[in-house]
Amino acid sequence: MTDKKNIMEYETVALDDNETSVVIIDQTLLPGRTQLIHLKTAEEIWDAIYLLKVRGAPAIGVAAAFGIYILAKGIDTQDYAAFYKELVKQKEYLNSSRPTAVNLSWALNRMEEVCRTNEKLPVALIKEKLREEAIAIKEEDIWVCKKIGEYGLDLVKPGDGILTHCNAGQLATSKYGTATAPIYLGQERGYNFHVFADETRPLLQGARLTAYELQSSGVDVTLICDNMSAAVMRNGWINAVFVGCDRVAANGDVANKIGTSVVAAVAKRYNIPFYVCAPTSTIDRNTKTGDDIHIEQRPAEEVTEMWYKERLTPEGVKVFNPAFDVTDHELITAIVTEYGIARAPFAQSLQEIFEKSREM
Ligand code: MRU
Repeated sequence: MTDKKNIMEYETVALDDNETSVVIIDQTLLPGRTQLIHLKTAEEIWDAIYLLKVRGAPAIGVAAAFGIYILAKGIDTQDYAAFYKELVKQKEYLNSSRPTAVNLSWALNRMEEVCRTNEKLPVALIKEKLREEAIAIKEEDIWVCKKIGEYGLDLVKPGDGILTHCNAGQLATSKYGTATAPIYLGQERGYNFHVFADETRPLLQGARLTAYELQSSGVDVTLICDNMSAAVMRNGWINAVFVGCDRVAANGDVANKIGTSVVAAVAKRYNIPFYVCAPTSTIDRNTKTGDDIHIEQRPAEEVTEMWYKERLTPEGVKVFNPAFDVTDHELITAIVTEYGIARAPFAQSLQEIFEKSREM
């Protein structure tokens, strides 16, 4: 289906009315075409995540949770052991689609846990519990992003220039985005930010998605190429950098879209605060430092052809195409979560955030 509604009116991830498929916007076609696609099989869900039709750490978690619910519905047995075995197989398969964003395994683990803790129930009721859990994961994501927006808004003032990298916007979450949440909440309150969106090579999530959703929301946004961030910072146009992230290690090192660490280093050079917006679901206390984060390597064609299906580079040239990089915690001013703002020393402040989350 192709449609002409404002992009902000769409849900990034949803169930269809009959609950037989996961509905997403094919983000590889944006902004040119808004096409909704229905994912029914495990392969369709896996492909959609791997091919970045749905992308962004929280959104792939929600897509996988809905995906597992749809796949669980199709498991044709009343026997708990057989049901559980098949569910875990599907879960592991979906989890193999992308390695860096921890939200994917976090959401899938929550779904598996629901299955395990309800093992005494009939399989039909376990399926109902899985449905409730998937919907809860999505609803929590909306609440989480809004809270991040509220905390983030305290770090800036009306009229500020804000730079962001990649897309940690509504299209990467269920609503508001993470890095864009302070921008959207500020917009509602008349803050009139001037946002600079890095294009984000090689797949242009900043140019195609962030610039699109901010512009569609009436935010003053200027698109820049990745190699222009130092120039706008040196010009004095940037008061703060907000980025999202795919995994936060226990020491505060952060993996986010490739190029993020360059922006952080340049921000440090110009004394501009660098804020990482992270739901607690993105914090992985089992990963000690950034060195332990598995960085996804993507096909060379993303660099050599992009989507042109025609070579833009010399035949046979070697390509290095990591999807993410690690920003060292020394470059990060603060990590903004739904339970408050963590600052150095991060090992301690992130632990305090977790303690707070357990009290709520
Ligand atoms: O490869 P992508 O497009 O999934 O990368 C997305 C990012 O790096 C985002 O910044 C991150 O997932 C946070 S989304 C709120």
